[in-house]
Order: sequence, then C-alpha cells, then structure tokens
Amino acid sequence: MPPRITPLAIATGILFLLTACVSDNSRTSGSAADHAWWKETIVYQLYPRSFKDSDGDGIGDLKGIISKLDYIKSLGVDAVWLNPIYASPNDDNGYDISDYRNIMKDFGTMADFDTLLKEMHARHIRLIMDLVVNHTSDEHSWFQQSRSSRNSPYRNYYHWWNAERGKPTPRWSFFDVNSDAWKYDSATNAYYLHYFSRKQPDLNWENPQVRKEVYDIMKFWLDKGIDGFRMDAFQFVAKDTTWPTFPPGYDKNIIKYYGMGPHLHDYLQEMNKEVIGKYDIMTVAEGAGSTLDDAMSLVDPARHELNMAYHFEGMDVGSHDSAYDLLDFKRVYTKWDSAFAQKGWVSIFLGNHDQPRMLSHWASDEPQYRDAASKMLNTFILTMRGTPYCYYGDELGMSNIKFDNIHDYRDIATINKYLELKHNGGDTAAFIQSQKRSSRDNGRTPFQWDATPNAGFTTGTPWLKVNPNYTTLNQQAQAQEPSSILNYFKKLTQLRHTTPALTYGAYTLIDPSNPNVYAYTRQYENKTYLILLNFKSHPSPIFLPTSIDLTTATPVLSNYPTHPPTTTLQPYEALIYDLTPTNP
Ligand code: NOJ
Repeated sequence: MPPRITPLAIATGILFLLTACVSDNSRTSGSAADHAWWKETIVYQLYPRSFKDSDGDGIGDLKGIISKLDYIKSLGVDAVWLNPIYASPNDDNGYDISDYRNIMKDFGTMADFDTLLKEMHARHIRLIMDLVVNHTSDEHSWFQQSRSSRNSPYRNYYHWWNAERGKPTPRWSFFDVNSDAWKYDSATNAYYLHYFSRKQPDLNWENPQVRKEVYDIMKFWLDKGIDGFRMDAFQFVAKDTTWPTFPPGYDKNIIKYYGMGPHLHDYLQEMNKEVIGKYDIMTVAEGAGSTLDDAMSLVDPARHELNMAYHFEGMDVGSHDSAYDLLDFKRVYTKWDSAFAQKGWVSIFLGNHDQPRMLSHWASDEPQYRDAASKMLNTFILTMRGTPYCYYGDELGMSNIKFDNIHDYRDIATINKYLELKHNGGDTAAFIQSQKRSSRDNGRTPFQWDATPNAGFTTGTPWLKVNPNYTTLNQQAQAQEPSSILNYFKKLTQLRHTTPALTYGAYTLIDPSNPNVYAYTRQYENKTYLILLNFKSHPSPIFLPTSIDLTTATPVLSNYPTHPPTTTLQPYEALIYDLTPTNP
C-alpha cells in the first residue's frame, strides 16, 4: 500500500534526517524508539458479523463494511483488524475455519473481499487479517480425511491418540461441555485433541507439511496485498507431545502449562524466514506467554519473530469484578511498559470480541457517566506506549447488553459452560448473573448506526440482539453533536498522529499510590505531556510532584467543558497537558 504522509510521518522524517537513523519496519533494529509504521498505527478492530449487514440476512458482511469505509476513515484510524472472514460452519463465529482460501458465505465472496481491500487501500487504511492456525474446523477437508483412516496421509495433521492405549493424559478445553480436550472418535477408535470446541481440532505443528500449508495460506493472502496478521491462540501451537501429566490445578494457569511449548520459536523463526520477512507487514500474537521474558522472546527484534504481542494480564486485573483495584491496573501496565521500554513492542487495548464492553468493565455504563467514562478510557488507550487497538463501538460508548436469558446468548463459551453447569447441578442463575458482566456476547452486539429499527444494522432479524439503548446511543446522533464521544475520539486519534511523544515517548508513572487517578507523562525529545485520568465516579484529588506546575502547562485536550481551578479531577475526568515550557 502506498505510504501515507501524515504530520507525524513528517515530524519523524525530519527526525530521521537529523539523527541519520535508518529504519522502515525496524525488523533488524533493537530499540523501542526505532520508528516503524506499525508502531504509529491506530488499529480499529471490527467484528464483521456485527458491523453492517448489506443484504438483510441479519449478519454483517463485507459489502456492509465497504459501505462504511468512509466512516472508518473519518475516525482517524490507520488499520482495520478483521476477525475471521474465512469459510466456516461458525461453531465459534469463524474461529473454526473449513477453507482458508474462501470467504464465509454469510460474509460474501472473494470478489467482495478484493473490492474491500482495494477500497481500504485507496483510503490508506491497512488490513490485518486473523490467522487461526492452532486449529481448524472439523469440517475442514484435512480433518475429514484425517479422521477417515489411521493410514490417511492427513492423519498426522492433527493430534490423535489410539484408544487401545487407554485414555490420553487429561487436557482441559476452553469450550467443551465437559471441559475435556480429548474427544473420542469412533471412526478410527481414537481420541483427537481440541483445546477449544470439539469442532476445532488442534493442528499438529510438529508436522512440517502442516507448517508448509500454513505458510502457503499466509502467502496467498499477503500476495493479495493484506498488511498483516493477528495470530490467534498462537502461543498454544507448540505442544509437548509426550503428553506429560500436569500438576493438580494446572487448569487454573492454562497459559503457563499450555503456552510457549517446545519449538514455538523454531516455528516462528521458520515462518519469518519463509514468509514474514519477505513482506512489510505487521504481526501480532494473541497472548504473550506467562512471563515478561516469554513476551520479549516473541517480539525482540533481534530474534526475527513477531512485531508485537498482546498480553492478558491487563484484562485479568480484578477478574471481571467491576470493583477492580486501580493500583493493580497501574502496576500491570507500568510493569509491561518498563519491560518493553528498551526494545520490543506491545499492544494496548481495553476490550475486544473476547471481552465485555470496556465501558461496562473498566468504568461505568450508567447514563450519567457514560460520556466522560468512555472518553477517559479512550484517552488511556490512545496515550499509552504501544500500538492502540480500538474496538468497534467503543468510539461511541457502546456498553454490555446484559442478557437475562440463556436463549439470547449466541457464544459457544457461554452456552457450553451453562450446559455443563446444568448437567452437573450447578448454579445456573448465578452463572447468568455473572455473564451479564463478563460474556463475550456483550462485546459483540451489532454496531449502533442510527435510531431506526435494529439501529440501522440490518433490515432483517439481527443474529444477536441490538442493545436497546441504540435509540439514543448511535453514530448518527453523535456525528451531529460536537462534544460527543465520537468527536472526542477523532480528536484523540488526530492528537496521537501529530504528537510523536504519544507514540514513542518514555512513560513515567506519576502519583503511583493514588488509588483513583492514573497519571503519567510521555516524554520525547524536548516535549513532555502529562495525562491525568480519574478512573472513579467521584471527584478525586491528584498529587503532583513539585516539578509539575499546572498553572504554566498548556491544556491540550479534556473530556469536560471546563476544569475548576483545583487539583481535583471530576468523575471520570481525562486531561492532557503539554508541559513543555513555552518561550520565557
Ligand atoms: C481466541 C479468539 O480471540 C477467540 O475468539 C476464539 O474463540 C479462540 N481464540 C479460538 O480460536
């Protein structure tokens, strides 16, 4: 895709000349301050099923996305990460792929895809695709052949355990109704492994033929011109196939026992040599192992593996308890920033398709706070170091739908856990209550375009109910309101693009023991910015070091019309100041 000349690009270009520093994608350089387009990129993650339906079948599709590209462009984002759009029977909404070289029927055709990519590039928007290769669908032809006979040439594409050997060593499964990752298959009297659902058998990466298939698939899409991959569940691809017994309780720390298995780095280095290194692309791993060293081993530029990873430690703060401790939250983000301050790179996000809505989770979706709280959380994402990932609808302040009834849920994770509980006589009512806070379906409801029926998402029956608050909370209404969450979001993306310090600047935590306010500076070259974020619904004082004098600082952006002349932040207030001294 042709390079885009942004103010930040101009600023950084001048810097290159001054420092004679040469770096385009920094694959060979080591420092976190080395420039790269994927560090300057703001990613907009879009759940295709729920973005825009063009044909009235109730399911979002590629033509729908094409019709909204001008909107996406207007947000000031640089890339779109699309959740899987490949052919799939949709056991797990596209994360179960039956044909990697075809488009899911619900979403359209390959011709629609080609148009989408062309139209995105025409608008200087990059496209990042999901690469789901820890597992396929059980309806993929590889698996169909693999399960048909022990002698199939595809047998070794998956992990099989012949039943005459007895039961395999237990492995826990995320979505199985019995939490059992080994499924007995009578066709060949053997068990196959599935870390996710029964319809998502795990590929055997020890088989070089499997790896070659994956590299060919990657090249197929890269040769079409896509700009990168988000690598689904990638930390799990390498397994210890001696199947050791894990200690009791291992299922409580799945990443430690299942993640970063033997040969993972060999595979990634091979992939880099065969594919990644031949293209100027962005690569991001879902998951980053269970330690900072694990994470660094994936993204250290000297190792030639991936550009960045996203970790779950931030998401796990408080474990979906709305009363999480902000001190923990600050500790986690500060720890991760420090670990990557010199080299490597991370992603910053507060929500995605596997999480509830960030507003409901990290702040408050009560009507009186929605506006300030959404703006505050977006300020966090767009002022931290790391590539920001903004999830569709968070630019409007979309919130959890909080279904009361299991029949409203569509997510296999919720449905199978409910069935398992019911089968075992567990407390299903308490479970439904907890799902209102944590179910992934909360974050997957259709985009709220306008106040017409079904929020303008579809003329049919939406595959997942639309949040009833769409009559007042929608894109059209916010586009017309200058002080809306949407218009604030656009100011933030513009600020990030024109302020190199927000991308590359060093991060320093201020007032660390403040339990209510997250404050930090971003410093780069001769510029310093101060970010103050009140994460609470009550006024909260901030204690600044004497070196910071707000009376001489220049306010840059705020989510309230005015700020009283005090050092107390209003509920969910966000303030950005430029601390750079003006000419005396
Ligand atoms: C992680 C994806 O983000 C999630 O949605 C999916 O269910 C699992 N991987 C399995 O592919």
